[in-house]
Amino acid sequence: MTNSSLSRAAFLKLAGFATALPLLPTATLAAEAVATRPIPKSKTGEQLPVIGLGTAQEFGVRSDAGNMEAKSNVIKTLVDKGAKVLDTAASYNDAEAVCGEFMEKLAVRPKIFIATKFGENGKAAGQQSVENSFKRLRTPMIDLMYVHNMIDVDTHLPSLKEYKAANRIRYFGVTSTGGNQDRLTTWMDQIDFVEFAYSVDFRAPEQRLLPMAKDKGVAVFVALPFGRNRLLNKMRGKDVPTWAREELGCKTYAQLALKFLVSHPAVTVAIPGTENPGHMAENIEAGMGPMADEKQRARIAQLWENA
Ligand SMILES: NC(=O)c1ccc[n+]([C@@H]2O[C@H](COP(=O)([O-])OP(=O)(O)OC[C@H]3O[C@@H](n4cnc5c(N)ncnc54)[C@H](OP(=O)(O)O)[C@@H]3O)[C@@H](O)[C@H]2O)c1
Repeated sequence: MTNSSLSRAAFLKLAGFATALPLLPTATLAAEAVATRPIPKSKTGEQLPVIGLGTAQEFGVRSDAGNMEAKSNVIKTLVDKGAKVLDTAASYNDAEAVCGEFMEKLAVRPKIFIATKFGENGKAAGQQSVENSFKRLRTPMIDLMYVHNMIDVDTHLPSLKEYKAANRIRYFGVTSTGGNQDRLTTWMDQIDFVEFAYSVDFRAPEQRLLPMAKDKGVAVFVALPFGRNRLLNKMRGKDVPTWAREELGCKTYAQLALKFLVSHPAVTVAIPGTENPGHMAENIEAGMGPMADEKQRARIAQLWENA
């Protein structure tokens, strides 16, 4: 049976959504919690809110006080609105250090699921990068450590298993957003999480990566959910259609683009990047309210095809 032949209730059940949102009236949903998805490899049934925060662009560039305060407020908003996933990397300028500083100042480390990455050749260089991440993030435990951009993965997997056995990291995985990201399938039997690019106008992952991740019980982070600014630039000045507001509670195209992603049954978390606390709040709201069924996802994709 394909998803398109599933009833809405069956689709949501298959999708593993933890909330009973479809039973609630839309007006109530806006004030409800962000939906969560289980981490398939978790032994305790751990769930993650479906919207997180990416820090690849300007987050790690130290700027004037106003800009730094805004970044701190992005992290505060993430936590205040009930989300928790923060995705960073050793190579994102000063992002790890900035996040570590703000998590400490805001005293929110226990409320955040930190994912970071290292991209080094060789075992020693990989381990050194991981050790530096603990220091910069000001934490003795990192929730999720990724090998960045598939660099020397086979060398690093044994080290990551050791870090996990020692309870210094809780999960590990591999990322790629390049043209060869399908090669992530190579390690799908050995990892807890995978991260790759997927968006409403880039649906190639629906062919191999997403079905394999679902099948093998690998949690999925969606990188580049807006294709940087490609998707939102295309919709600038356009109003969201009435059906999207009424049926899905989406007030902006950013929310529609995210709703499309987090409604896919294999997606665990989408991690849009932002330095703007208002955008952070808007993005988290895309994870609230009804999820889109397959027909609604096709309708969302069509909006971009026709733009
Ligand atoms: N190989 C890898 O592992 C890899 C590669 C690329 C990315 N990633 C991860 O994926 C994350 C997301 O990718 P990305 O940050 O490069 O690109 P993105 O999330 O696709 O787009 C970020 C852009 O969207 C804007 N934006 C965010 N929310 C918005 C909203 N509600 N309304 C309007 N504009 C909004 C941001 O500007 P404002 O700051 O103004 O909101 C920013 O310019 C990265 O931060 C990183 O954590 C991983």
